[in-house]
Amino acid sequence: MERIKVGLVGFGTVGSSFYELIEKHKDRLKEQLGVEINITKVGVNNPRKHLNSLPAGVLLEGYEDILKDEKLPIIVELVGGVEKPLDLVSRALKAGKHVITANKALLSQHGDTLFRLARENGVELKFEASVGGGIPVIKVIRESLKGNEIESIMGILNGTTNFILTRMTEEKLTFKEALTEAQKLGFAEADPILDVEGVDAAQKISLLASISFRKWVDYREILCEGIGKVTKKDIEFAEYSGFVFKLIATAKMDKGRAVVTVFPALLPKSHPLASVREEYNGVLIKSDFLGTSMYLGRGAGGSATASSVASDLGDLIERIRMKALPDPVELSPIEKLELFPQGELSYKYFLHFVTDNKPGIWATVTGLLASNNINIESVQQKWEDPTKLSDLYILVDITKESFVRKAFREIVNSPGIHTESCFFRILED
Ligand code: HSE
Repeated sequence: MERIKVGLVGFGTVGSSFYELIEKHKDRLKEQLGVEINITKVGVNNPRKHLNSLPAGVLLEGYEDILKDEKLPIIVELVGGVEKPLDLVSRALKAGKHVITANKALLSQHGDTLFRLARENGVELKFEASVGGGIPVIKVIRESLKGNEIESIMGILNGTTNFILTRMTEEKLTFKEALTEAQKLGFAEADPILDVEGVDAAQKISLLASISFRKWVDYREILCEGIGKVTKKDIEFAEYSGFVFKLIATAKMDKGRAVVTVFPALLPKSHPLASVREEYNGVLIKSDFLGTSMYLGRGAGGSATASSVASDLGDLIERIRMKALPDPVELSPIEKLELFPQGELSYKYFLHFVTDNKPGIWATVTGLLASNNINIESVQQKWEDPTKLSDLYILVDITKESFVRKAFREIVNSPGIHTESCFFRILED
């Protein structure tokens, strides 16, 4: 039976799970693909750390030997970070090797160079695991929905923050306790700030938008807010009002311009994404012929992500054996998608003002909302201890982002209103 050699670089949470998957399912993969997959080289920073996990002769320090090995047609990059993977992936592509990566940070920062290199060298750069962990969402967009026009995408794309919000809501854990748990379980990025501040989700939704709308979206230019400002009180008020907090990523086209966003949103409890819990990701895709379809699965963690890497490897091997031309990624990083101006976006909002307890606070807040043409739906204040600061919760009807930002600034600059105040958007459909 034909054998195919694969080089793996990185043996952390995902790398070791991927290795385990290939070993465990060797026979099944042989039957399915008609070839035996041999991971003949594994490059790591510190081989001594992995002596007990890998057979002698497989483990290498760094990746130079893997790049030089002409008998390795495929390299799997599971290193993490950006600089080292950029060096590895660009040199591998130039050397005519196919590359599989799970690295959305790499692709969203250097996709222009890397996809061009893949095209120029007649090889594939596969990246299913970069979005949605184990959910085959890129495959769905690129293959299953080939005959459809993608109208919109709405999803929970970060497992760590979904885990944190779930634990804060259901177990009343603090943010810190929940984050520590997520890190222990291997969901979080090496730098969890990327998860918490929404950057990881922004990179993922920008990749999905770029694939769906076929022009490049730079994640650094989209509206991106993380979950850092969501407090226990906000979660409690949301729950009381029939909503749950989720970090939601969206992408759609609006009159030729793209609306691509990431922010913590209040979803009605009946919303399909409201029931996506813990490290699970969920993606709703609306396309013209299929309508709305939903994809759900574990969005973070070693085995879920390894599952997508293995799927890319299987596809790649099939294509190599069929001697098919490289599957072109319909991404044109050079041509950028015009983004809808953030101030022109419109939503319903939930505003939370931390205020003194004194006459005139309501008058100030409601007066400034009115003067900015913002229509109040409901107001609630919990009267706990008149000697302490108070929480004033306001739901407002659909209005422009620029109006809310201006009104919020004016209110927070008024006497008796404190800067711990915040506002969130409500997504109803
Ligand atoms: N840190 C990511 C998450 C996993 O929490 O979803 C890898 O994308």
